[in-house]
Amino acid sequence: MSDGSETVYLNGAYVPYEEARIPVEDRGTLFADGIYEVVRAYAGRLFELEAHLERLVQSAGEIRLNLPPVDELRAAVRGVLDRSGLADSSIYIQITRGFAGPRAHAVPQGIAPTVFVAARPVPRPDAAHVRDGAAAITVPDRRWHMCHVKSVGLLLNTLAKQAALDAGAQEALFVRDGVVTEGSATNCFAVFGGTVHTHPEGPHILSGITRQVLLALCADEGIPAREQPFLVSAMYGADEVFVTGTNTEVLPIRTVDGRPIGTGEPGPVARRLRAAMERRVRG
Ligand code: PDD
Repeated sequence: MSDGSETVYLNGAYVPYEEARIPVEDRGTLFADGIYEVVRAYAGRLFELEAHLERLVQSAGEIRLNLPPVDELRAAVRGVLDRSGLADSSIYIQITRGFAGPRAHAVPQGIAPTVFVAARPVPRPDAAHVRDGAAAITVPDRRWHMCHVKSVGLLLNTLAKQAALDAGAQEALFVRDGVVTEGSATNCFAVFGGTVHTHPEGPHILSGITRQVLLALCADEGIPAREQPFLVSAMYGADEVFVTGTNTEVLPIRTVDGRPIGTGEPGPVARRLRAAMERRVRG
């Protein structure tokens, strides 16, 4: 929750959070007609900002959304971060198609998008889960076939996350046709015989920026990695499972559906990649 003291960016202006208002029939509220990004700042430095902006442009293209100039967005991210006084922050960028009058399905032309950017404290996973591993459950992946678009339409992601919390776990892993696609807000990796596996890019996952960084770190560290789907049945027998995301970073998974993974403790590959990630973000 905001305490109302922060300054956010809304449609070209920096305003106090409590004064940030949008029309109730914004297309974002009516149709989840919008896209978003979450960017991390470490010690005041924006991590992989350009990759996030590039993905935003791609998401916009997929749903025919007119973005404001990327320079404006880049400046807004920096602007809210500087005004927040936060060194470490999670910056939320949301662009909806905007307000076009009373509800009507057809995609309106020539309206201004609603642009919202806010810098928030980082919702980090519990230190104990990072150290000892977190618990995950699996849930059927009933989402649409455009998961590569970072859409604000996250209802099934929120229900999956809540199902995990209700089960005493921390993350839910989606399973489509027996294959593990990704987590509710993370990408999923499994280690089999020293080789890291993760679902390939395509319409069934969001191609995470952290996922890309992780694959690059695997190459740097000489850890073999394959963008290859794996079955949930195989995952139960994996040596290690971990998930990655902008806020989550690298989170080892200790159990899936109550079954211990590997030794039931964070494995050497996850630990090594986590350390490499730490060096990368702070470096
Ligand atoms: N979510 N898959 C899904 C479904 C996600 O929502 C996210 C990130 C990821 C990881 O992407 P990245 O490494 O670029 O953060 C994968 C953000 C953090 C969120 O919704 O808060």
